[in-house]
Amino acid sequence: KVLILDFGGQYNLLVARRVRECGVYCELKSFRISMDEVRSFQPDALIFTGGPATVFEEGAPTVDAGLFSMGIPVLGICYGMQLMMHLLGGQCRKAITREYGKTELTVNTASPLFAGVPEKAVYWMSHGVEVETAAPGFTAIAHSDGCRHAAVECREKKLYGVQFHPEVVHTEYGTKILENFLYGICGFSREWTMESYVETALRECREKIGDKRVLLALSGGVDSAVAAALLQRAVGDRLTCIFVDHGLLRLNEGDEVERVMKGEFHVDVRRVNAQDLFLSKLAGVTEPERKRKIIGEEFIRVFEAEAKKIGKVDFLAQGTIYPDVVESGLGGESTVVKSHHNVGGLPDCVDFEEIIEPLRRLFKDEVRQLGLTLGLPESLVWRQPFPGPGLAIRIIGEITREKLDILRKADAIFREEMALAGLDRTANQYFAALTNMRSVGIMGDERTYDYAIALRSVQTQDFMTATWSRLPYELLDKVSGRIVGEVPHINRVLYDVTSKPPATVEWE
Ligand code: XMP
Repeated sequence: KVLILDFGGQYNLLVARRVRECGVYCELKSFRISMDEVRSFQPDALIFTGGPATVFEEGAPTVDAGLFSMGIPVLGICYGMQLMMHLLGGQCRKAITREYGKTELTVNTASPLFAGVPEKAVYWMSHGVEVETAAPGFTAIAHSDGCRHAAVECREKKLYGVQFHPEVVHTEYGTKILENFLYGICGFSREWTMESYVETALRECREKIGDKRVLLALSGGVDSAVAAALLQRAVGDRLTCIFVDHGLLRLNEGDEVERVMKGEFHVDVRRVNAQDLFLSKLAGVTEPERKRKIIGEEFIRVFEAEAKKIGKVDFLAQGTIYPDVVESGLGGESTVVKSHHNVGGLPDCVDFEEIIEPLRRLFKDEVRQLGLTLGLPESLVWRQPFPGPGLAIRIIGEITREKLDILRKADAIFREEMALAGLDRTANQYFAALTNMRSVGIMGDERTYDYAIALRSVQTQDFMTATWSRLPYELLDKVSGRIVGEVPHINRVLYDVTSKPPATVEWE
């Protein structure tokens, strides 16, 4: 396995993602971990990520130079390479030519790192510091017009450094270069597959849980469903799930989750139908953050009441996934992007001894693969991200039963047509939102005065920024025709052509 030491670069998680895509297991940890921690991880190779610091300035992140004499291959990327040179006796300086963006490099194809890569190709550079003199024992194996040391190697010790970012798609042969490092230089093979991971995950869950009891909050989302399927496989009926149905899920979603979990996976699901309660608490509320707060609080209250009936449990399971761990500042060196709200508050209200997070090491698409490997249906596994407060934040203004019905129907039509058009997996998130606006229309010979519905579809990698999807006009036309024809009280359909920023993905 590979240990990736994180120096705070913007692509840190992407490096980990790419290594896993090569079928090699890796974990990302802060550069601050001690030599003992590194040794106890027992890595077969190390990768250093990039980072924003300047290696020769005071207080710049550094590591124990002993890492380079552990006898295992090391790949330093950007800051990682500069640090390696700095620590091993090379010299870095402010770059004479700063390079940002696509840059042509000439590489030495005799180096194992560049095996099978053309002599000239496009690479992604992003640096203001460069290696002036390589450390003793190292030679340059790539250069650009402005950078003499775009990559270096010490072949006999299997130490490599690259100034460019192989993990970024703009580096033409980035994947090939990572494969060369992982397979050719380190000797890994493609062994991190979902099938093999399932066995490991089941064993770990069984070892940890023993003959004790686990409680899981099923949300209707993908992660908690996969966690439930995994835990059920691991410990059978010692898993209990509480599914708080707040009535804000999409069409048939609650029933589908319950059917699969109970019917196919024989999970002990306690569904609490709290639709009326949530509707009454939300009556008259129009302010988005109030809606979120009410839903969050009621959710905990209902969950708590149900959990009391079960009594003390040993473990509370959560569907936390790897990006949550890293973004919450626990995995690597990145700043806290958001504190995770899908599970916020729950732990305090339940009587349990320990938390178990069986998906903690998986990326979202790995969670999906795991779900499929465990036998969950594609329809459930391939659902898009759905916010915890559900349809409540897709209805502008007051939430009523009637508006929920309207929105559910329109949203289902949109999703159905997106799937028929083959775009359901290319768009990253798409949904309908009910505006609080009525307008005049004409249907048959009748004047109508009804709601306008908005369609939203976005392309995004990380949901921090997003661009609106360029959906085909024919598709929009068909969806619009069907919604107005099939959903009472909608006489107008709008398509949202705003990106994030300045808009957000959700309407509230
Ligand atoms: P925004 O609207 O912030 O959405 O651009 C970014 C992503 O986050 C989801 N989202 C939420 N998820 N609780 C959640 O669990 C929330 O309150 C919430 N608000 C937004 C949204 O669906 C999108 O994927």
